[in-house]
Amino acid sequence: MKILLLGSGELGKEFVIAAQRIGQTVIAVDSYENAPAMQVAHGFEVINMLDGDELDRIVAKHLPDFIVPEIEAIRTERFYDYEKQGITVVPSAKAANFTMNRKAIRDLAAKDLGLKTANYRYATTAEELQKGVEVVGMPCVVKPLMSSSGKGQSTIKTEADIEKAWNYAVDGSRGDVVEVIVEAFVKFNSEITLLTVTQNNNPTLFCAPIGHRQERGDYQESWQPAQISDKDLYEAQDMAEKVTEALGGAGLFGVEFFLTDDGVYFSELSPRPHDTGMVTLAGTQNFNEFELHLRAILSLPISGITLEKAAASAVILASENSTNPTYKGLEKIAALAKTDFRIFGKPSSRPYRRMGVALTNDTLETPIEEIVERAKQAAALIEVQY
Ligand SMILES: Nc1ncnc2c1ncn2[C@@H]1O[C@H](COP(=O)(O)OP(=O)(O)OP(=O)(O)O)[C@@H](O)[C@H]1O
Ligand SMILES: [Mg+2]
Repeated sequence: MKILLLGSGELGKEFVIAAQRIGQTVIAVDSYENAPAMQVAHGFEVINMLDGDELDRIVAKHLPDFIVPEIEAIRTERFYDYEKQGITVVPSAKAANFTMNRKAIRDLAAKDLGLKTANYRYATTAEELQKGVEVVGMPCVVKPLMSSSGKGQSTIKTEADIEKAWNYAVDGSRGDVVEVIVEAFVKFNSEITLLTVTQNNNPTLFCAPIGHRQERGDYQESWQPAQISDKDLYEAQDMAEKVTEALGGAGLFGVEFFLTDDGVYFSELSPRPHDTGMVTLAGTQNFNEFELHLRAILSLPISGITLEKAAASAVILASENSTNPTYKGLEKIAALAKTDFRIFGKPSSRPYRRMGVALTNDTLETPIEEIVERAKQAAALIEVQY
């Protein structure tokens, strides 16, 4: 099969490697040359994926069987046309289109499906935001409708923060829409990603929940399995099943939830492998999240997902700008038992850019905090040189 991969970061790279291993052909696309997934693909294209005409051009040029989005910032409206042309958009045009805009996915989850979410409002001006804050209460979180990795996101604690939050969200907005969501701050005890796999002719499957810690809008460590009560897990699985079914198609989704004293809240989802799911590269399961995504896409039946080990991932971040980053300390991390790592091969660095990940695992009986601590220490052994 020919796969057109839209987005060529580290998640795309692992997906391409999984596809290569079972003989598929991948053309990797991104806005810059030599992106991680391009380094392992059969071919590549450099385009602005928010430009619909450019998208049309490369789809017509390559005539793929599958279009696999790896990022949100794509002119996803065009996906409906590609579906009509007989190309499978993964997991579906609707899933990719709805999740690129927080409004579409939140209204689907909260209004149409009745999932429990934080109370929320939308605003297109600072005045509307003021009114929204009055409804949801303080503290509350403001996010541009179109953004990811925490861009333009801030927390309002007092009246004085409202104007700041509005301006910050406008600056952090992607695309042509200037609208924000304001939602009540959820006092969660922990947050999880529930990797959910929908299949064409087989039942929906769930991976063991993944715990994670966020800082500046990006995950720092993730671990699997996360601590969760049976009741909360069933609730999360039920919500994940409903929302993935409404979005349609086959593939792996990363469904994000907050765990609170008062039950589980749905937050958002990615209709594709999730960054916190990189922990599955540590051998936690019979198949990692990229292999699961690929198998579901190709309609290869997945009979079950088994949890084999407990593991953690910790990110390796850059701290400076460079167009030739190199790495020190690989022999130190390599010497550690039950430890592995990835260096993504990004051609340039900037402060806080994710350049690699450390992976640690152990038996399922080992306390997960110990495995997370080892992952953090392992990640700290790698030094990016500029
Ligand atoms: N209503 C909320 N209450 C408390 N914390 C929140 C709330 N919304 C978001 N957060 C925190 O901010 C993080 C990022 O939020 P969210 O996932 O909505 O944004 P994002 O930009 O889409 O992030 P990403 O693309 O990295 O998943 C969450 O994982 C959570 O830690
Ligand atoms: Mg998120």
